[in-house]
Amino acid sequence: RVRAFASSAAAQAAVGRVAVIGGGQMGAGIAQVAATHKHDVTLVDVSQEALERGKAYMAKSLGRVAKKKFPDDAQAQGRFVDEVLSRVALSTSPAEAAGSAGLVIEAVVENIKLKQDIFAGLAAAAPEGAILASNTSSLPIAKISEQLSAARKKRFIGLHFFNPVPQMKLVEVVRTDEADQQAVDDAVAFVKGIGKVPAVCKDTPGFIVNRLLLPYMMESIRLLERGVASARDIDAAMKLGAGYPMGPFELCDYVGLDTIKFIVDGWHKEGKGLAGDKQFAPSAKLDELVKNGHLGVKTGRGFYEY
Ligand code: NAI
Repeated sequence: RVRAFASSAAAQAAVGRVAVIGGGQMGAGIAQVAATHKHDVTLVDVSQEALERGKAYMAKSLGRVAKKKFPDDAQAQGRFVDEVLSRVALSTSPAEAAGSAGLVIEAVVENIKLKQDIFAGLAAAAPEGAILASNTSSLPIAKISEQLSAARKKRFIGLHFFNPVPQMKLVEVVRTDEADQQAVDDAVAFVKGIGKVPAVCKDTPGFIVNRLLLPYMMESIRLLERGVASARDIDAAMKLGAGYPMGPFELCDYVGLDTIKFIVDGWHKEGKGLAGDKQFAPSAKLDELVKNGHLGVKTGRGFYEY
């Protein structure tokens, strides 16, 4: 039935070279983690400048990992960072990167047309049998792959990592109705091989984590709007009363209020099974913050000031 991988070495052999398309915070994180676990990686972005940014992000993050790994040995830290980075090639050509890859993970900006166009090119260039995967948070996997051949769809899945990738253990492995079991098994083996924990789920809006988190975040905002309690008290209540590591407003600010608005507006408008659901109806408070550019930690102000 299942081709079981005896070790992560076997999983590496099965997947081989990994191409990561998009070197932003997610793509750079994914490339870093794959290279740390001995995969050869090609990281692709639109310009040399963007690639250098991705590389600097990886170097900084790897530096922190190295400090923990070799606390009193600066030389060993440097060797570790250099060794991992030596496995990451940089390229501005998705086709070239995909040509030798067993797994291609797309992590470009959240735009359906762009993703579809990128995969049309990748499908023409990647070896037959390569796994093609998207890291999208909010777009249907089947929609991203709808223009591809039946054979490509069989090995097209979602690999949804969490931010920050080097720290967050979970990867949702999203299977469409067209994906075959072998592709899911291969993806699960890859995820385990890079030290993460896979959760396999169907291709429905929000997969598992965001499908549960977004209603929670939106209801927290509505609690605030109804004047039930302050953001600070709601956060304290959920941390100390429910054991959550962050309160809902801290979490919203960390994720980015624009991202939250983008997701719930999309679901409310056309989410499969969710369109018109009042849980995801616009919130005046959220809309106002986003309109004023208060997007959370990244802009220095959201529900809190930073
Ligand atoms: P980002 O904006 O940090 O990075 C996107 C990168 O894609 C940029 O470096 C950009 O130059 C590059 N890019 C744009 N067009 C490209 C093209 N045609 N070819 C190659 N590269 C191109 O975005 P981020 O946050 O890394 O998100 C990327 C994807 O990951 C999105 O689909 C998002 O939904 C998903 N995601 C984001 C999470 C987050 O917390 N930020 C969490 C999980 C998934």
